Order: sequence, then structure tokens, then C-alpha cells
Amino acid sequence: MIDLVAAEKAAGARGSPSDEIDLPVVECVLVVDDNAQNRMVAEGHLRAAGYEVVLAEGGERALALFRERAPDLVLLDILMPGMDGFQTCAALRQVQGGADTPIVFLTALGDLETHGRAMASGGDDYLTKPINRTELLLRVRSLLRIRKFSRDLKRSYQMIRYQRDALAKEKRLREQLVVFLASDLGTPLATIDSSLASVIGDPLLPDEYREPLDVARRAGASAARLARSLLDVNRSEDGALTPVLSDVDLPAMLEELRFEAAGRAALSGHRIALKLSLEQRTVPADRDLLRRALENLLENATRQAPSPSTITLEASSFAGAYVELRVRDEGPGVPTAMRARIFDKYTRVESSPPESVRAGSGLGLTFCRVVALAHGGQIWVEDVVPRGAAFCMRLPLRSQAT
Ligand SMILES: Nc1ncnc2c1ncn2[C@@H]1O[C@H](COP(=O)(O)OP(=O)(O)OP(=O)(O)O)[C@@H](O)[C@H]1O
Ligand SMILES: [Mg+2]
Repeated sequence: MIDLVAAEKAAGARGSPSDEIDLPVVECVLVVDDNAQNRMVAEGHLRAAGYEVVLAEGGERALALFRERAPDLVLLDILMPGMDGFQTCAALRQVQGGADTPIVFLTALGDLETHGRAMASGGDDYLTKPINRTELLLRVRSLLRIRKFSRDLKRSYQMIRYQRDALAKEKRLREQLVVFLASDLGTPLATIDSSLASVIGDPLLPDEYREPLDVARRAGASAARLARSLLDVNRSEDGALTPVLSDVDLPAMLEELRFEAAGRAALSGHRIALKLSLEQRTVPADRDLLRRALENLLENATRQAPSPSTITLEASSFAGAYVELRVRDEGPGVPTAMRARIFDKYTRVESSPPESVRAGSGLGLTFCRVVALAHGGQIWVEDVVPRGAAFCMRLPLRSQAT
């Protein structure tokens, strides 16, 4: 969970979040003028309008008061003995909080050159003397409003940035946790699998135990595959997944896959067909990654296709430079709107598979895309006429692995 109090602090909020309630705040104006009459007039107008006022008769005193009282706005005369208004303005901008405090110069009426210099030296606005009450109050009010808006905006921006960073950190931690879990699961799952294999391999095992033990072994294999996919997807996000390429004999590997999948598919009433139309037998690939990607496509097809129906595993050459591997089924297909997203992490089509079918984690296709891209290839899904989906992985025959 994001710590909102910490977010407030990071955003530079004063006090507790309950300070958010808009209590009326008395804003403070610092009036700097060597002329006592001018100070008095400005003070009178401002106090009558509800502002707090502090007075300084010169630049040095103004700086000291600014540090002490942190006023919300400064009215600054230009011609003063000692530090003039321009020097005072430059010095105020260096004081903490001075950079974004509005400074309004008091200039001589009609002296256009002074107005220009006042603005150029870092003033936010100017007022001509003698001070006109309405003009003074309008100028002060609008500058204070602008200052409030810009502070609010800055604070919201800092708050959003803090929350975004906190979310990203939380997401990283969650992913690390998942990776730790996934890597810790590998060894116990392998032990369970080998123990089950030895029990199933025992010729004295009563037949009625065989099927439930097979089911347990398949479930374990599926969990192990999920754990490995998680680790590989994560590695690829960290740029650490490097396929180990060798010349993979495609017809041999696909026949092996077909054989294994056929055993499982027979139980669910599916038939697995293999169709080869290759100009060359081998492709440079990471055998383990490619095999697991195809296993996931076959498992998806088995999960989605009606029973009985045929799932086809196809391999064909393309444009003399690629091999295309397709897993085609007669299931509901993938809605057009989902096609771009279906390869994203944890994405599942809500309407499929039917409720009776175990929902997956939505990671298999992400892993398949990681595998395709790691080989310098592509993956996509096509419609099958009259019905079904075909997941196609195109791999280059000349290695372009990343
Ligand atoms: N052949 C298919 N036909 C129709 N929809 C499919 C097919 N293959 C996948 N999908 C949809 O895409 C989703 C994502 O598939 P993906 O393989 O990424 O995850 P999963 O199968 O749900 O879980 P797992 O992580 O165990 O593989 C599936 O949940 C399903 O909704
Ligand atoms: Mg899957």
C-alpha cells in the first residue's frame, strides 16, 4: 500500500494531512520603502483588506524580515538609500523561499524605463506611485492566487511522482517475490515428479492408481512449466535471457512433441496431427525454450478446442529465410480486440475457456513471445476458417538471436 502520509511529506506538505482542510490563512505582505508615508498608506490598505503586514525601511532590514517572517508577497520600492530595490530583489531571490515569492516593485509614474528594469531584474509586477488602493489590492490578490495555484500544482506533481515511484518499487518487490518463489519451487517439483515417475513405473502398481497419479504428474509438470516461464519472462525483462542456440532437428522435435501431447490429448478427446512442409530440417534455436513455447501453445489449444476435435502442429518454410511453426485448433478463436494484448503478461480472455476448464495464469503466451523475440522472430495469432485459432511463430533460419 502506498503510504499517503509519506507521500504528503515527500510533496513538502506542512503538518499532517488534516491540514488539507482549507482553513482561512492570513497572508503576510512585506512592504519595503524608505518613505514612512508610503509605508503607512500601503499598510493601511492591506490591513483593511485582511492581510498581515510587516514593514522595512530599507533592503538590509527587508532581508532580515524576510528570513524571519517568510512573507507571501513583497512590495518593494526602487529608490532607497543603501541597497536599492533592484539589489534587494536580487538578494531576496537567493534567500530560501525567495525564488517563488511574488515581488511587486513600486515605480515612479510614467517612468517607462524603470518599469522595464523592474521586470528585467526579477520582479513579478510593478505598481506606480502614488499607490492606488484598488490597483494595489487587485495586484496583490491575483499574484497571491497565482502563487497558491503554482504551489498546489507543484505539490500535486511531487505527490504524483512519489506515488508513481512507490508503485514502481512495490511492483518490483512483488516481481522479485514471485521470482524467489518460482525458483524455490523448482527443486521440490522435480522431486515430486521423479517420485511419481518411479511409482508409476512400478509394474506392481494397481491399475486404479495409475490415472490419478498421471493426473498429479501432469499438474506438477504444468506448475513446473509455469515457474520456469515466470523466471524466463523475468530474465528477458532484465535483458538476461540469452538463448543457447544449436541446430534443432525440427521434424524430430515436433514428432516428439506430438507424441507426448497425443497421450494427454487422448484423455481429453483431442487428436494431434503433424504437418511438415520444410525445405530444410534444422533451425538455429534454443531447443528447450522452443519446445516449452510449443508445449504451451499445444496446451492452450487443448484447453480451448471442443472435444472431439483435431489440433494441428504445422511447420513450413517461408520466403526461403524463415520457418513458421503453427498450432491450429477448432476452438472459439481469439476476439479481434484481444489480439494485440493477448501476449501481455497475465492476460486472459474472460469469455474463454468454458468455466469447466481450469483457468491459467495468463503467462504462457508472454513466454512464447519472449522466446520468439529472443530468436529474432515473431509470434501472432490468426483466425482459422470456419472456426478456431492458429498461433504462428516465425523464426529466422539465419540466427538473429538477441
Ligand atoms: N488457442 C486458443 N484459443 C482461444 N483462446 C486462447 C488460445 N490460446 C490462448 N488463448 C487465450 O489467451 C489467454 C492467455 O494464454 P496464455 O497461454 O498466456 O495463458 P493461460 O493459458 O491462461 O495460462 P498459462 O500461464 O498456464 O499458460 C488464455 O487464457 C486464453 O483466454
Ligand atoms: Mg497457456
